[in-house]
Amino acid sequence: MSRKNDKKTPIPKNTQENSPVNGDEKFLDQTLRPNSWAEYIGQQNIKDNLKILLKAAEQRKHPPEHLLFYGPPGLGKTTLANLIAKETRAQLKSTSGPAIEKVGDLASILTNLSPGDILFIDEIHRLNKTIEEVLYPAMETGSLDIIIGKGPSARTIQLDLPPFTLIAATTRIAMLSAPLRSRFSGGIFKLEFYSDEEIEKIIERSAKILGVEIDSEAKKEIAKRSRSTPRTANYLLKRGRDLAQVKEQKLTNNIVNEALNMLNIDELGLNNEDRAMLTIIEDKFNGGPVGLNTLAAALSEEQATIEDVYEPYLLKLGLIERTPRGRTVTDRARKHLGKKLKGLDL
Ligand SMILES: Nc1ncnc2c1ncn2[C@@H]1O[C@H](COP(=O)(O)OP(=O)(O)OP(=O)(O)O)[C@@H](O)[C@H]1O
Ligand SMILES: [Mg+2]
Repeated sequence: MSRKNDKKTPIPKNTQENSPVNGDEKFLDQTLRPNSWAEYIGQQNIKDNLKILLKAAEQRKHPPEHLLFYGPPGLGKTTLANLIAKETRAQLKSTSGPAIEKVGDLASILTNLSPGDILFIDEIHRLNKTIEEVLYPAMETGSLDIIIGKGPSARTIQLDLPPFTLIAATTRIAMLSAPLRSRFSGGIFKLEFYSDEEIEKIIERSAKILGVEIDSEAKKEIAKRSRSTPRTANYLLKRGRDLAQVKEQKLTNNIVNEALNMLNIDELGLNNEDRAMLTIIEDKFNGGPVGLNTLAAALSEEQATIEDVYEPYLLKLGLIERTPRGRTVTDRARKHLGKKLKGLDL
């Protein structure tokens, strides 16, 4: 099956499976993943809340309540789930929405949990409705209702599950049904983009792990162009390191600039796809507003990818706006693209 045609599967161009970039990113994610609260930079409010929640659960000698993390890719959702398991010394079992195809798959995952385990379900928005309904009682009362047989002879058996914590992650909170959301009794946490200072700290730690010497200007430059996203910062650091190594030079600001220019990443951290989106809204749709459907068709891109991957950062930078009638580009975007400002063209 072609991933491109799977409407529910937003695979951004720069993270497509099998692409060298993705393989590299996955490997990087694992090597550079923080192992303690202290190493997990930023997201202070989430950390503060989680620490209390975990401590209270420990005092009550009960697994923490179910948690949901959401936000754009690469901001640290999976990392948080791993960290919670480490900090609570719980066993983490990972799966994802699309991997649970049948009710039986979920039943077997749940019945194989040991008391106190953490079950991590990534991409929870892709769980199908029938499976979701089996999850409700499991989350609420720790029981699993299974229907055996069909027709008049069908009967329901109820299994008691060991106490466990479900941690789920999604880039698409809006796609989660209200009943599912309401069952995350421990809380629903939104991961925010990182400040440049936070990203610099992350780069500093990653550079140490990778054994790269980096000067402070170069660190600043990578942070500025990292889309305020740790995964991207780590990826850019590695690309800079490669160029420095090949050129037998230190990782300076100039090398970072050269490496990033080769990747077509501009001074705001935008790549070709981001710029294409802005340019199409401006040139083809007269600055907007343009509906998501139309925009996706014009870009030959999935709507979900636009919403999950491109838009959050463009909105954060104030380069686009979302109005009830669609997306529009802002004057800041026009300036960035080198366009004349609307109303000023004579
Ligand atoms: N707060 C942080 N401090 C330090 N490094 C971080 C932090 N958050 C994320 N990272 C780094 O970024 C990488 C990507 O994070 P992670 O895989 O947790 O993102 P994600 O939100 O799960 O993304 P996706 O939605 O694509 O699954 C991590 O492996 C880690 O190296
Ligand atoms: Mg993840």
